[in-house]
Amino acid sequence: MTDEQNAVEDVELPGGVKIPQVGFGVFQIPRKDTQKAVEEALEIGYRHFDTAAAYYNEEGVGAALKATGMAGKVFVTTKLRNCDQGYEPTKVAFEESRRKLGLERVDMYLIHWPFALIDRYVETWKAILELREQGVLRAAGVSNFLPEHIERLIDETGEAPAIDQIEVHPRFSQPDVREYCHEHGIVVEAYSPLGHGADMNAPEVVSAAKAHGVTPARVVLRWHIQSGRVIIPKSSHPDRMRQNLDLFGFELTDAEIAAIDALHDPSGRVSGDPATNVNSQSWADQFSRGNVS
Ligand SMILES: NC(=O)c1ccc[n+]([C@@H]2O[C@H](COP(=O)([O-])OP(=O)(O)OC[C@H]3O[C@@H](n4cnc5c(N)ncnc54)[C@H](OP(=O)(O)O)[C@@H]3O)[C@@H](O)[C@H]2O)c1
Repeated sequence: MTDEQNAVEDVELPGGVKIPQVGFGVFQIPRKDTQKAVEEALEIGYRHFDTAAAYYNEEGVGAALKATGMAGKVFVTTKLRNCDQGYEPTKVAFEESRRKLGLERVDMYLIHWPFALIDRYVETWKAILELREQGVLRAAGVSNFLPEHIERLIDETGEAPAIDQIEVHPRFSQPDVREYCHEHGIVVEAYSPLGHGADMNAPEVVSAAKAHGVTPARVVLRWHIQSGRVIIPKSSHPDRMRQNLDLFGFELTDAEIAAIDALHDPSGRVSGDPATNVNSQSWADQFSRGNVS
C-alpha cells in the first residue's frame, strides 16, 4: 500500500499534534524480530508505531526506521516504565528511549501506568511537560490512567494529558473512563483493540462481518474507527497487518455499533487493573527482570 492508498486519517490531539488513527503496536514482538516486523508494517503502509521501554524492543523500532530512512517521517510513541517514575529518573529514562529509537524528537511520550502505590506520577508528569517544552517530545500523554489519576494531574499541574491509552475492546470497553476523557477533551487510544484476538468470536461481530463480507477483526477495528478512537492493533502476520489497516471501504450501521457497544462486561479485562496496581510491570515482574533492586 502506498502513502496515497493509505486511507488512515489523522486525529488532532489537544495542542495541535496530529496522530494517525491507526498505528502498529509492538508489545510482545520479540526483540530479535522487531526490526523485521516494523519494516514489514512500513511496507504495508503503517505510519504510526507504539512501543514502550517495558517492551524491550525500542532498538528494533529504531533500527527499522533507520534502515528505511523513515526516522522523523512517521509517528512514534514510547512509554515510561513504572520503575523509572519520578522527576529526575523520568528525564534519564526518556533520553535512553530517545537514543534507542534514534530520534531527535519523540512524537508522543506516555506514563505507562499510574502505579499509584509509589505516588510519583505527578512529579513524573511535571518532568514530561518540561521535556515537551524543551522540544524533545511533541505530545504528552498517559496510559491506564483512571479519572481520579487524571484529576490529580489537572489539579496539581493545570494540564490534562493529550491522550489516555487504555484497554478498549468489545468485551471491555470502559464507557466510564471514555466518557470522562470525552468531557475533558482527552483523546482515547485503544490498546488491545482486538481483546488479544478473543473478542472476534462474539455473535454480534460475526454477523456484522458476514453482512459486510469482511473478517471479524476488521469489524472490531472499524467499530473503534467509527467511535473516534485511535487504535494500535498488533499482528506478527503480514496478511493480518494488511487487514488491520484496511478499514475504510465499509461502514457499520448504527445498530451494529450499538450491538458491539452492548458487549461491554466489567469483568472482561485482558490486561492489568490500574486501580489495584496489578499489571505487566508489577514489582514482582520488575524484580524478575532485574530492573529494580
Ligand atoms: N499501554 C498498555 O499498558 C498496553 C497494554 C497492552 C497493549 N498495548 C499496546 O497495544 C498493542 C496491541 O495490543 P495487544 O497486542 O495486547 O492486543 P490486540 O492487538 O488486541 O491483539 C493481538 C492479537 O490478535 C491477533 N490478531 C491481530 N490481528 C488479527 C487479525 N486480523 N485476525 C486474527 N487475529 C489477529 C494477534 O495474533 P498474531 O500476532 O499471531 O497475528 C495477537 O494474538 C500492543 O502491541 C501495544 O502497543 C499497550
